[in-house]
This record gives sequence, structure tokens and C-alpha cells, in this order.
Amino acid sequence: MRVAVAGLGPMGRGIARVFAQAGAAVVVVDADEETTARGHARLIEEAAGAPVEVATAGSVADAAREADLFVEAIVERFEVKRTLLEQLRAAGNEKLVVASNTSSLSIGEMGTAYGDPARVVGMHFFNPPTKMRLVEIIRGPRTDPAVVELARQWASALGKTAVLCADSPNFIVNRVCRPLYYESQLLVTQGMTPPAIDAVVRGALGHRMGPLELLDFTGLVTHLGSSETAFREFGDPRYRPIPLTRQLVRAGTTGRAAGRGYYDYSEGKPREEQARLVREPRESGADVVIHRAVGCTDEDIATVRELSASGRVVVDSSHGGWAEHLPPGAGWVRVHGGFAEVVDDPVAGIEPAYDAADALGVASVPVLALPGLVADRLMHSLVNEAVTVVEEGTATAEDVNLALRLGMNHPVGPLEYLDETGAVEVLTGLRGMLDGFGDPRYRPAQLLVRRAAGSRR
Ligand SMILES: NC(=O)c1ccc[n+]([C@@H]2O[C@H](COP(=O)([O-])OP(=O)(O)OC[C@H]3O[C@@H](n4cnc5c(N)ncnc54)[C@H](O)[C@@H]3O)[C@@H](O)[C@H]2O)c1
Repeated sequence: MRVAVAGLGPMGRGIARVFAQAGAAVVVVDADEETTARGHARLIEEAAGAPVEVATAGSVADAAREADLFVEAIVERFEVKRTLLEQLRAAGNEKLVVASNTSSLSIGEMGTAYGDPARVVGMHFFNPPTKMRLVEIIRGPRTDPAVVELARQWASALGKTAVLCADSPNFIVNRVCRPLYYESQLLVTQGMTPPAIDAVVRGALGHRMGPLELLDFTGLVTHLGSSETAFREFGDPRYRPIPLTRQLVRAGTTGRAAGRGYYDYSEGKPREEQARLVREPRESGADVVIHRAVGCTDEDIATVRELSASGRVVVDSSHGGWAEHLPPGAGWVRVHGGFAEVVDDPVAGIEPAYDAADALGVASVPVLALPGLVADRLMHSLVNEAVTVVEEGTATAEDVNLALRLGMNHPVGPLEYLDETGAVEVLTGLRGMLDGFGDPRYRPAQLLVRRAAGSRR
């Protein structure tokens, strides 16, 4: 197989390497002779551990003439990509498959720019392409299904897992994860600190990196760009950028590369700051009744009142209604397996119920009395987005699960989480937030409402 790769930034170099390692004859090209030579030298240097043979071409047309597949990984600007696609078309290789590694541009629009939309497909590799196993294959509205199938087979031949996705803004991973970033940033604006939020997400959800640490790593400029794309394309206020993101970008505190974003990297390490907030359980003979309540109905409130009349009771819930209805002397936690969020909110008059975490023998982090608390707020919003993606036909539930597991290292896919937790619980969580915040961003997907109804029957 003959592959041409245009653009020798980190993505193009990595993509060229994986194809060469898999035995393809690879030719690379960048903007001009000098950048091509420089990028090629860097690629060879990076592959020193497992040397590869990669040729260079003097122009896009030269690279394309004999190729079966042309992968473009040049700068993320449509006008620049359009010019490249026009040059590519002029090379006259009618059998060529053109794959774009774009993160945010429309494959359909690129197909039109190329002049033969049936031959244009998205092959969205993750960074770094040599390590990340996921490739999102994006079918434009006019992409030939045979071309989509070829792209899928080529990705598999590289040892990657391909997931299929319609030509929809942010594709799968970056779309389904949006609520993690939005909600964690909103939590900062509502009084929680970045290390507390990240510590809860890692402890309760088992994510390797908290969302704010991850935002700093990716860079807030990139995040703001994809939020603006999502907001513009969907026209739905739930994708609107969080004002705090813009403030940080304007101040130049754009993340780890800038030395400062949600964390100050000159001060210390995010992991150490998070670890300081985690309270380990202590031996205690405390006598405490822990009452699980998914919602905060009149019946739930009456039960908790009755229990607290005869002893210490701690409610295990993330429903925001408890901020108002927790009986005096009662505590409030949310237990996730071996970890608990403990509500500690002097403004709301709620003392931290560490006795419950001790009785259960679980580590904990203090959180504010906000609807959904932290982990359920993020997870229920993420599941809702995943259900929306399935509902609108952008991707299948199976591919969404695979994409989040492989692209984000999540321990469970969002639709698997929904199956385990149940649609009624996720719906109750979302409605609790809709009610508590009065913000339509929590409006549940109709497919979720229907699933909850179905599971009740
Ligand atoms: N960086 C990521 O994490 C990531 C992840 C997935 C997808 N992507 C996408 O992959 C593409 C490349 O990303 P990157 O981070 O490697 O980009 P980059 O901006 O670091 O590198 C782009 C390269 O393209 C070259 N280039 C510019 N115009 C060109 C032209 N007309 N012909 C040939 N080469 C040209 C530049 O000289 C540069 O070497 C973008 O579309 C981006 O959205 C990036």
C-alpha cells in the first residue's frame, strides 16, 4: 500500500510513522522544501527506537500521484486545507482516497473543496498517533461507503480500533466529553477549587486525570476553539463557552504550556494539591445510619426525618434538594464504591459527615452543597450527551463506549454506565440539576426519557 502524508507537525509525523511501521510505502510533504526536510529529519529521529523508511516529495501533487491513500494533517485552517485539496485534485489520481485528520472541520465541506466528495473521509487519529489506539472514521454526507470501509480496514491494519462517526461537530470523543469540561469549569465559578474537583473525579469515577488538569494539558485555546465550533454549529446554548475560559485565555493563562491555567505550575504539582484534599478513613466506633436516596421526594424527606429522630443519620445522595430539606443534625454524602464526596458547606449550614466515610472505611473529599455535587453532575451530563449522540445517529452506543474507553481511558463507556446505573437514576439526576440550577443545559435527551419510561413499565 502507498500512503502520502501532508503536514509534518506532531500528528502528521506520528501518522506517517505508524503507516511505515505497518509496512506501507510512505511519502511525506510539508509546506515547502525546507519544512519538509526538517519535518522528515525529526520523524526519523523520533523513530530511532524502531527505524522506518519514509520518502519525501517535492509537492503535494508529486506525493499524491502514485498513492492509494493521502492523509492530510496540515494546520487546522479551512482555507489552507482548501488550497491543498485543490492541488491534490489537480494531480489527477482518480482512485485516491483522501483522508483528513481534522479535529473540527467539516468532512462534507472538504469533499466539496476537493471536487469529488465520494473519495473524502475523516481519519481522526489521537495524540500521539503512535500510542493511542483509537481512530474515529468520519463519513461525510457524500462519502462513498466503500471508501469508509477502506479507511476502517486501513486503521485496523495499523492495529488501531476504528469507530464510525457521522460528519458532526467535534465527532465522538471531543463531543461526548464536553460536559466534563463545562461542568468542572462551572463548579469553579460556583466556589469549588480545581484540585477538589479533580480529586473527586479521579477518586469517584476512576479517571486518570481530572478534567481541569486535562484542560490545562490540552490548552484552553484549543478547548475554547472547539466550544465555539460546537456552539456555532449546534446553536444550542448548552455548548456556549464558559466565560471563565475566555477570561483565562485573555489573561494568557492558557494551561500547562503557559505555566499557568487552572493550576499554577510554578507553585507545585496538581497531583500533590489534589492528594492533600483526600481524607483517609479513620477507625471509629461511630453509630451512623447511611440512607441512600436517589432523589429528594416528599417520601425521601419523611423517611430521613423519621430516621434522624432516633439517631445519627447521613443521607447518601447527590440530589440538590437536600440543601434545603436535610433535617437538623443530619449529614450529607455521596458514596461511589470506595470513595465518598462529603458535603462540607458552612454557608448552607452543613457540617461534614466524616463519620459516615469512617464507618464505610472509604477515602473522601469535601464538596459544596450544589445540585448533583461533583461526580454525578459530570457523569449524568456526559451520559446525556452520549445518549444525544446515539439518538441523532452520529454514532452507535457500542462505538461511543469504545471511543471513550480508548480515546479518554475512561474505565467504563457512558452507555455502559447508563446500563449499570439505570436510566431512571440518570434522569432523576438531570432533572434535579435542571430544577436546582434553572439552566436548560441539563435538559434530558428524549431517548433517555423514553428509556426511563420503558424501564418503569
Ligand atoms: N495536535 C493534536 O492533538 C491533534 C489531534 C488530532 C487531530 N489533530 C489535527 O491534525 C492536524 C495537524 O495537527 P498538528 O497538531 O500536527 O498541527 P501543527 O500545526 O503542529 O502542524 C501542521 C503542519 O502542517 C504544515 N503545513 C501547513 N500548511 C501546509 C500545506 N499547505 N501543505 C503541507 N503542509 C503544510 C505546517 O508546516 C506544519 O508542519 C490538524 O488538522 C489538527 O486539528 C490534532
